[in-house]
Amino acid sequence: MYSNPFLQGNYAPIFEENYFENITSIIGEIPQELNGVLYRNGPNPLFPDNLKHWFEGDGMLHMFSIANGKISYRNRWIATERFNLEREAGKMLIRGFRDPSPEEPTNISSRTTANTNIIQHGGKLLALQETACSIEMNPLDLTTKGMWDFGGQIPQMSAHPHFDAATGAMHNFAYTPGSNDLAYFIFDKDGAIKKTEGISAPFSSFLHDFFITKDYALFPVHPLTFDMKRPKQGKSILMWEPDLGSHLGILPHHGKANDVIWLSMNPCYVFHYMNAYQEGNKIILDGLKTKRANFFPDANGKIAEPGESPPELTRWTINLEQKKVTEQKLDSTPAEFPRFDERLTGLPYRHGFVAARVGSITKLGFNAIVHYDLKNNTQTIRDFGEESMVSEPVFVPRQKNSPEGDGFILAVVYVPERNASDLYILDAMNIDKEPLAIVQLTQRVPNGFHGNWYDF
Ligand SMILES: [Fe+2]
Repeated sequence: MYSNPFLQGNYAPIFEENYFENITSIIGEIPQELNGVLYRNGPNPLFPDNLKHWFEGDGMLHMFSIANGKISYRNRWIATERFNLEREAGKMLIRGFRDPSPEEPTNISSRTTANTNIIQHGGKLLALQETACSIEMNPLDLTTKGMWDFGGQIPQMSAHPHFDAATGAMHNFAYTPGSNDLAYFIFDKDGAIKKTEGISAPFSSFLHDFFITKDYALFPVHPLTFDMKRPKQGKSILMWEPDLGSHLGILPHHGKANDVIWLSMNPCYVFHYMNAYQEGNKIILDGLKTKRANFFPDANGKIAEPGESPPELTRWTINLEQKKVTEQKLDSTPAEFPRFDERLTGLPYRHGFVAARVGSITKLGFNAIVHYDLKNNTQTIRDFGEESMVSEPVFVPRQKNSPEGDGFILAVVYVPERNASDLYILDAMNIDKEPLAIVQLTQRVPNGFHGNWYDF
């Protein structure tokens, strides 16, 4: 048994790649409207012995294919350059950000594990990791095609692109650890690059997510700073420095670098935003705010205690005339992995969904889903039980033109009694009611990061 909490329970990796066709162990019935694939991505270290942090494991994809009420499942490691080198060597060669390895190969072109997100865009299925080159995957069998850098033009980007549902355009950004430089990208629906704009941030930070509204790109810069010189001084490469404050960069989609305005926010950290939209001369931005960055030390080497700084749904209102940002806590349930009906990306919306922790809040991971009705200020909770673990909840509309929220929530739930995972299919507007279907796998799906649904 490993002492590392990120190698215990459903954080532990699995070592089999499987394909289960036409799974019959289903409670309930899979809705006939669901015809497509749920791809999910997450860390699954091939050589866990030296693993320090959950974020560092090799990427593994999980694929649930659903058609006409039937479902099959497949999982496969992403065969990155790093994964192939380590598999050949029979050991971990590249350690993570907390403990760079002196044995690290110098001739490797990319250190990515591609373990963070999986998106379909411009006819390609791409596995993404922050500040890394995309890895193209075969959408049918999850074999790895190789690195895709958009013809040499986008050697790295974030794992959190956002999509304009009306045009299919993909917006994303990139940063280089240790540098203040950011880049903003827009791609059309076919994957052609339509814009690249370099902008300068107040300082170099761990910038996991950004957001877009109809007219603007938003770059929230929080004081979890990068300094590449720190490891040589025996310090963490990432440090929580709240005195630097949080800053929000606002750039019109078609603006130039000098059109960016930077506004001050209260210092905090946010891994993920839910959505953002414009309302008159205001921008509304919703996200999961922590008082400080978890997992990483401050200048005194102190890391937040479990439960000290839980992520809570927060709304920032940006007054573009007064150039002021105000914030309002919307809920105090510890939560992460916000999703919504993404046909409304960048637009006014009503329904949001998160993975949440109910019961003992000092435990790692999430055991509930919360549906927020942001119009009526109500919430609905589905509690899977103290020891269960639930993934990010992915919303799938019932039909292409269904009204907002009319559809399904798909989430993977670890069931400790069976030491296996279930795919839950819930009615999105009634997540606390009887599930529409529970698909029982005979293996675990380790706690992962992000996934997306694509219709056939
Ligand atoms: Fe993320």
